Order: sequence, then structure tokens, then C-alpha cells
Amino acid sequence: MKILAAYSIKGGVGKTALAVNLAYALRKAGLRTLLIDLDPQGAAAFYYRVDTAEKFKMDGARSLLQGLRKNIRESDFPGLDIIPSNLAYRHFDILLHGMKKKRAQLRSILDGLKSDYDVILMDCPPNITLLSENVFRASDALLVPVIPTILSQRTFEQLAEFFEDKKLPTEILRPFFSMVQGRNRMHREIMQNLPALFPGFLKSSIPFSADVEKMGVQRMPLLAYSEKSSAAVAYLALCEEILGQWDSES
Ligand SMILES: Nc1ncnc2c1ncn2[C@@H]1O[C@H](COP(=O)(O)OP(=O)(O)OP(=O)(O)O)[C@@H](O)[C@H]1O
Ligand SMILES: [Mg+2]
Repeated sequence: MKILAAYSIKGGVGKTALAVNLAYALRKAGLRTLLIDLDPQGAAAFYYRVDTAEKFKMDGARSLLQGLRKNIRESDFPGLDIIPSNLAYRHFDILLHGMKKKRAQLRSILDGLKSDYDVILMDCPPNITLLSENVFRASDALLVPVIPTILSQRTFEQLAEFFEDKKLPTEILRPFFSMVQGRNRMHREIMQNLPALFPGFLKSSIPFSADVEKMGVQRMPLLAYSEKSSAAVAYLALCEEILGQWDSES
């Protein structure tokens, strides 16, 4: 089983749009896929028309796994399950703080779901907490949308520095360009220079497309209602790039 996360310190960069469409693409590639919405905003589950989660007790690793299991929902697409966001997650950090190996708990909890899925994808909130550190240690790849602007580039560099400082495995970082506007000169310049500095930079990038915004109305992934849209084609290419990397690793 592989574990992926859509993560950025920065808000509004395309994490949820990626998570929702990549989950769909992974399932389309034949993988049993679980999408976990870790963001209290609950947008990923909203796009999939999945109800909000039932509350559950969080007093240890075992109850956490049980609670997550209890909240697994089937999506409209067989082979793709969702765990919707839960307000109980606001206690995650406090709970983790009280645990032994407080930075590595999530990986062992998710390992409890190993037999049921080929891939788990987490949609993360835009902050850097103990839960984020658990996500970093649990993930085989951290997919980081970077809008080709100075501020977005800067937050990615901050994340890379955090990884270096904390001796986290920088090789899991998989930044990619998001909301790309080819006519924008700054976008073009940043896209020319930044990838050379980070070996893990994905070649696939996601263009800016008004079709993505319509997911809120359609309440399904872009790939399910507009497969030919430029962004949908790009999400599929990004999925293939990730699958190709797994093949070459194994
Ligand atoms: N490629 C794109 N083209 C145009 N609009 C996009 C694209 N990707 C995302 N959007 C829109 O930009 C907004 C932010 O995207 P999204 O919710 O995916 O970002 P996020 O990083 O998950 O945000 P948050 O940090 O709040 O969780 C949404 O309204 C979404 O529809
Ligand atoms: Mg989001």
C-alpha cells in the first residue's frame, strides 16, 4: 500500500482539487483507493457528496483506527472510498502530544487499513502542526501544489527547509505547478527556474481552468464530468507520472 498526501503550508493553492481528482484517477487506474479528508473545511468529502462523519472517541491509537474505520464511506464510484472530515480532528494534536512516538503514530494507524486498499490519499489542511508532521512521516510522497508566484514558491522553500531542519526525508517531496497561466510572465520565469533546484519536482503541471471551480456545482471530480478539460487531462498525466515512479522504484 502507498500513502500519499496533498499538502502545502499555504492555503488555496489546489490541494483539495488535486486530492479529489487524483483519487478518481488512481481508482480509474484500477487501484483500491481511500481518500481521507483531514481538513475540517470538509471540501473533499463535499465534492464527493459524502455526509459528514460521525463523532468518535479519540483516546488512543486503537480508538482512532476504529473511529476512522467506522467512518469509511463508499463514494458514487466503486473502488473509491472516502473518510469525511471530522470535527474531532481538532483534538488530534492534543491526543498526539500525549502519545509515545508522537510524530510517527499516523503511519502505524494507517497501516491498520493496509489490507483493504492499494493507496491512501490524504487531503490536508493548510498549516503545520503535529498532525502535519505525522503526515510527513506517514507519506511515501507529499504532493505540494505550487502556484508559480513568489509567495507560493517561498512557502514551498519554507517547507523544504523544515524538512532539512527536522531531518525529514526530503525525497518524499513532490512539488508540482498548480493553476498555471501560460501567458503570465512571472509564471513562465518561475517554471523555468524552480524545478532545477528540487530534484523531486513533477513534470506534470495543472493549468488554471474555470472548469475546476465548477466541481462545487457538479459535486464530483472534474474528471467525472469533463474528462477533456485541460485540467482534467493534466490530473490524469500527473497520476500517470506518479504511477510510473512507483513502477520504476519496484
Ligand atoms: N487548476 C485550477 N484552475 C482554476 N481554479 C482552481 C484550480 N485548482 C483549484 N482551483 C480553485 O481554487 C480554489 C482553491 O482550490 P483548492 O480548494 O483546491 O485549494 P486548497 O489548497 O485545498 O485550499 P485550502 O488551503 O483552503 O484547503 C477553489 O475555489 C478551486 O475551485
Ligand atoms: Mg483544501
